[in-house]
Amino acid sequence: MRVCKLSTAVAAFIFAPAAAILRVTESSVQYILENDDLYVAINKTNGQMGDLILGGQDLVGTGRGPYLDCHCVPEGSWAPGKSKLVKYQLIEDTDSPGTAYGGIVMTDIYQTTNQTLSQYWFLREGETGLHLFTRATYNNDTANGNMGELRTLFRPQPTLWTHIYGSEGNWAPYPKSAGVEIQDATKYFGNITGEPFTQYSDFYTKYSFSDLWRDHKVHGMYSDGTANDAGETLGSWVVHNNVETYYGGPLHSDIMADGIAYDYIVSSHHGPRTPNMTDGFDRTWGPSYRHFNKGGTLDQLAADAAQYADRSWNADFYDDIAKYVPNYKTSDKRTTFKAKIDLPDGAERPIAILAENKQDFQNNTIRADSLQFWGDVDESGDIEIPRVAVGTYRLTVYADGIFGQFTHDNIVVSKSTYNSIDIREFSWKEENAGKEIWRIGKPDKSAGEFKHGRKLWTESELQPEEYRLYWAVHDFPTDFPNGLDFKVGESDPAEDFNYIHWSRISEVGNFFRDTPYLENVNNWTIRFDLDENQLRDTEHATFTVQIAGLKTGTNNPDYVNLPYTFNVNGADVETWVLPWYYSTSCGVRGEVSCYNFGKKFVFPTDILEEGENSFILSLPYNASSVEPAQLPWTTYVQYDALRLEFK
Ligand SMILES: *[C@@H]1O[C@H](CO)[C@@H](O)[C@H](O)[C@H]1NC(C)=O
Ligand SMILES: *[C@@H]1O[C@H](CO)[C@@H](O)[C@H](O)[C@H]1NC(C)=O
Ligand SMILES: *[C@@H]1O[C@H](CO)[C@@H](O)[C@H](O)[C@H]1NC(C)=O
Ligand SMILES: *[C@@H]1O[C@H](CO)[C@@H](O)[C@H](O)[C@H]1NC(C)=O
Ligand SMILES: *[C@@H]1O[C@H](CO)[C@@H](O)[C@H](O)[C@H]1NC(C)=O
Ligand SMILES: *[C@@H]1O[C@H](CO)[C@@H](O)[C@H](O)[C@H]1NC(C)=O
Ligand SMILES: *[C@@H]1O[C@H](CO)[C@@H](O)[C@H](O)[C@H]1NC(C)=O
Ligand SMILES: *[C@@H]1O[C@H](CO)[C@@H](O)[C@H](O)[C@H]1NC(C)=O
Repeated sequence: MRVCKLSTAVAAFIFAPAAAILRVTESSVQYILENDDLYVAINKTNGQMGDLILGGQDLVGTGRGPYLDCHCVPEGSWAPGKSKLVKYQLIEDTDSPGTAYGGIVMTDIYQTTNQTLSQYWFLREGETGLHLFTRATYNNDTANGNMGELRTLFRPQPTLWTHIYGSEGNWAPYPKSAGVEIQDATKYFGNITGEPFTQYSDFYTKYSFSDLWRDHKVHGMYSDGTANDAGETLGSWVVHNNVETYYGGPLHSDIMADGIAYDYIVSSHHGPRTPNMTDGFDRTWGPSYRHFNKGGTLDQLAADAAQYADRSWNADFYDDIAKYVPNYKTSDKRTTFKAKIDLPDGAERPIAILAENKQDFQNNTIRADSLQFWGDVDESGDIEIPRVAVGTYRLTVYADGIFGQFTHDNIVVSKSTYNSIDIREFSWKEENAGKEIWRIGKPDKSAGEFKHGRKLWTESELQPEEYRLYWAVHDFPTDFPNGLDFKVGESDPAEDFNYIHWSRISEVGNFFRDTPYLENVNNWTIRFDLDENQLRDTEHATFTVQIAGLKTGTNNPDYVNLPYTFNVNGADVETWVLPWYYSTSCGVRGEVSCYNFGKKFVFPTDILEEGENSFILSLPYNASSVEPAQLPWTTYVQYDALRLEFK
């Protein structure tokens, strides 16, 4: 074992290459990690990976391999590694089975706030990938900080890579031409002959390559052999082998790749919360695995990487390297969580989540040591989540087809409860406010079942799901020239209920319209028939609105909190103020599932009548946002599902 702490100020000591296959060395300008197949070098002037070579093939060219940046200092962004305070640690060691591994740890201090960021890169003999951890500490008792964004980026020279891979089935050729910018990070390519990206869509937006983290395995970049002299196909992947240190639970959604292969450790693009850093904050995120491979089709190389998207993969190795990685929970502090839950009838795709105690799992950034775990619940209600860190959690269970969700606080996961023969048993009854009269949509924490949701866009060869496309492609005035009027029992949610309820159709950020479109947009009508029997002996009606995404009016004081009015048969029942803190760019950034929340409107059934009734769901007319970036000036909600019940 050889461990050496170095600072750039004392950089004269140089390791001689070891006799083993694995080498950890230093030149005057770089720190180098190398095994038989992979060579990586961290540039001493900026803490970033300037070289990344797989079997003689350069993967980054003039670009960079996985390096760290954040939005976490008072000035905004910070890419650590450039200050005079940066320190490096080189690690050369062997794991328990005797396999050699090496590591480089870069730690930089942001002097004005006294916070640190450390990036860990580990390479093991016999692997063509890097194990990454990122640590932040904050020691400052006069001011708090916020970790707004934290990510590692594989940012190669673009000409070396040909395809973007967001998730299984969602990939596209990387744009070859510059295109015309029409919205923040959105470009038009429709009139460029030979532009390969048009196989996916005429409009390029990086948000098309987002994914929900529930079942996500791998994303990255692919090169099809045309981009290097050797004609080699290449893959650069971010493997979700471990998501326990991220935030937002299985509903977290983020951009995956756009020429850069991202690992968004902390972000709020689609609504997840971000942690505040207070005096004493000390957290390590990871491990995250970056895999590199070559010599296969896109699907073959992605599948090769996806095999590592398993929480138990390399668990022993992570235990071995934990001595270099503060805060990592080794296997002796983990156990299998087992429970049984009686599920409501009709529960599909049930999932169990253990996350921060007494918080919604989407809001699990309150405690600096918070971790999250989830697993599918099987048909008989058995829950088994391996490798849960001992601690106290909230258990949440939800399922497609079921309104509401099950939560239970103060779940203690300890080694001793694991050994006990008593499996904890829970019973979940679907929430209920009387007799169900109708429902629109399927409760599944997404607006994917509505018009322009998950249906495939058949106008392009690669047929992405429609919601992934640039929003203005789905022109609401064309689809609903007289506004949205949905008749329960007759209309089809997939055709007659839009995936976004807009307050206005913005001209800003809109490729197709120079002027805003305001009429018949903000008020949606739902009509339904009632008969005498349904109303007899009832007193209260409950109208449940579950929301899968909200955007309120940024920089517009009238709509920062967005009033949403529920009107029954011509009379307003209640105005619900949708709060700014649930607001996120969801639909305009290609998503149908963001921060989920909901509301029950309760009203007397005597304002309803036999025969036809109507609800109006009303956003304020012309409610505009004022966006600093080139994004649409509008507000909107995206529904998960709606339900009417009588009691
Ligand atoms: C290190 O980074 C600096 C600044 O980006 C660059 O000028 C230099 O060429 C890099 N050195 C190596 C060895 O890549
Ligand atoms: C704490 O942060 C504030 C700015 O956010 C800075 O003015 C102050 O100097 C910092 N304190 C220390 C100990 O670095
Ligand atoms: C700055 O942070 C370090 C730990 O990173 C801590 O030891 C030191 O006391 C802090 N300095 C001040 C002035 O708070
Ligand atoms: C393509 O369309 C854009 C947007 O209308 C326009 O700015 C650009 O000049 C057009 N390019 C070509 C090659 O026609
Ligand atoms: C985080 O800090 C911000 C700004 O000080 C504050 O508004 C917010 O309530 C804090 N959040 C939590 C969860 O403490
Ligand atoms: C998240 O939790 C904090 C602390 O309990 C609470 O103050 C805040 O309102 C919650 N935020 C959301 C969006 O639910
Ligand atoms: C929308 O509906 C509300 C009633 O909920 C009504 O007051 C308002 O005039 C309607 N707005 C438009 C533009 O039709
Ligand atoms: C709509 O809102 C915009 C921005 O707030 C305002 O400039 C415009 O006059 C409004 N249009 C109408 C027809 O109310």
